[in-house]
Amino acid sequence: MSATEPTTPTRLRRGETFEGEIETLAYGGRGIARPGGYVVFVNGGLPGDVVRAEVTKSKRGYAEANATELVTPAPGRLPEIDLHQDEPCPGAAWQALDYEKQLAFKEAQVADALTRIGKLGDVNIDPVVAADEQWRYRNKVEYSFGEQDGELVLGFHPRGRWDEVLDIEDCHLSSEATNHARNEVLAWARSEGLNAYDPHDHRGTLRNLVVREGRRTGQVQTRLVTSRAEFPRPPVDLHTVIDGPSGSTSGPTGVLGEEFLRERIFDLDIELSHDAFFQTNTEMAEKLYGLAAEYAGLTGTEKLFDLYCGVGTIGLSMAREAGQVWGLEIVPEAIENAKRNAKANGITNARFVAANARTGMRPLIEQAGRPDVVTIDPPRAGLSAKIVRRLIECEARRIVYISCNPTTLAPNAAQLVEAGYRLTRVRPVDMFPQTPHIECVAQFDLVGEVKYVESPSERKRREREERRDAAKEADQ
Ligand SMILES: C[S@@+](CC[C@H](N)C(=O)[O-])C[C@H]1O[C@@H](n2cnc3c(N)ncnc32)[C@H](O)[C@@H]1O
Repeated sequence: MSATEPTTPTRLRRGETFEGEIETLAYGGRGIARPGGYVVFVNGGLPGDVVRAEVTKSKRGYAEANATELVTPAPGRLPEIDLHQDEPCPGAAWQALDYEKQLAFKEAQVADALTRIGKLGDVNIDPVVAADEQWRYRNKVEYSFGEQDGELVLGFHPRGRWDEVLDIEDCHLSSEATNHARNEVLAWARSEGLNAYDPHDHRGTLRNLVVREGRRTGQVQTRLVTSRAEFPRPPVDLHTVIDGPSGSTSGPTGVLGEEFLRERIFDLDIELSHDAFFQTNTEMAEKLYGLAAEYAGLTGTEKLFDLYCGVGTIGLSMAREAGQVWGLEIVPEAIENAKRNAKANGITNARFVAANARTGMRPLIEQAGRPDVVTIDPPRAGLSAKIVRRLIECEARRIVYISCNPTTLAPNAAQLVEAGYRLTRVRPVDMFPQTPHIECVAQFDLVGEVKYVESPSERKRREREERRDAAKEADQ
């Protein structure tokens, strides 16, 4: 073989181990190593680390592996926070990575998604907005009950172990008040001799504890999730009962204390139902919404659609700069919150509709007329191509897209650009320090007329109708 001929990478099989250096981080936070040129996504490695890793999944083009030993730590690796039996803080996968590097990776991953997945050249990415607090920023924590050596524990599942729970007294991503609430409920459950639900045999009582905190109001709200069982009244605000083997925390919920969580965002008083979405980092939510308002550039007269509006925080925070606000959201309880939030804050130009974005956008346009500006804030899965087509039909001159996943923003952005929008600018906002999660705000501006791009099925239907019309004309 000549010296210049490329060598074929040797595929590693499931169960094999290798030693290699982590070169960079992939979207989602896993390290990338290339032993023998073969790409391996490694859980638990940071750039510059030399790790020993075991392959858990093997494909022709790449493999997945778990780091089992840190052979040589990367220069500048930070000490992990030892919380319990040498376990690092769960949920803080990037805690050993210097914060400036975390920000640089997040910025690079937004750029990479838009150029590589969205195939959008020359994207104008404004510098990432750093978080105010690098620790203790979470306003919501979902704990799981489990048992360790016959003792009831309350904490988190270690990575990849859905049936084990690690007891966590002090989660450094959440506040002392949240940890205190967790410790009180665990002490009560132990004193009552209650057991944890066992996901293997589906027996046992206690499943989850959800703690939410109003960071500005100081309110801490606790919700206990259990199987159907008899036990003394728990010291919590809400009690959810789950029948059957579901791992979900949503179900029929009884009110034992405060039904709503109260929070302040800017100068707005906000109430939240327990199943309504709220940004997990209150302080950075204000930065995110402030950036969305800057990108929206309202002047006091515009009709604004706030799509995927939750309890209405984005639309309500912009209502004083808009002519009219129309919010759309799928969870009816969140829409009830949004309506009450508008009233409580004396906002009279905002209306809210409970609907699925897929089916609800055309009726919203019929009811409200076309918007000038749209804000859209979907879950991590982003928008389906069909929902983007409905969004394009709004013919808004500006769309401000708030995304918690640049890899789903990218194809949506490409579809908007194809329909005549320019991606004017994008800015990442770090809502989740110590984790690989990335939030960003993107501004799209309509250049000229909307070019409506049909789906293949829409095109077929139109062609069928045109052929039928042509045949009718020929008959006449
Ligand atoms: C990322 S949250 C944003 C909520 C709100 N904009 C905020 O900042 O608090 C996404 C919201 O979309 C809602 N949602 C999910 N799927 C939806 C759909 N198909 N149609 C309308 N809303 C949907 C969720 O209930 C959730 O409230």
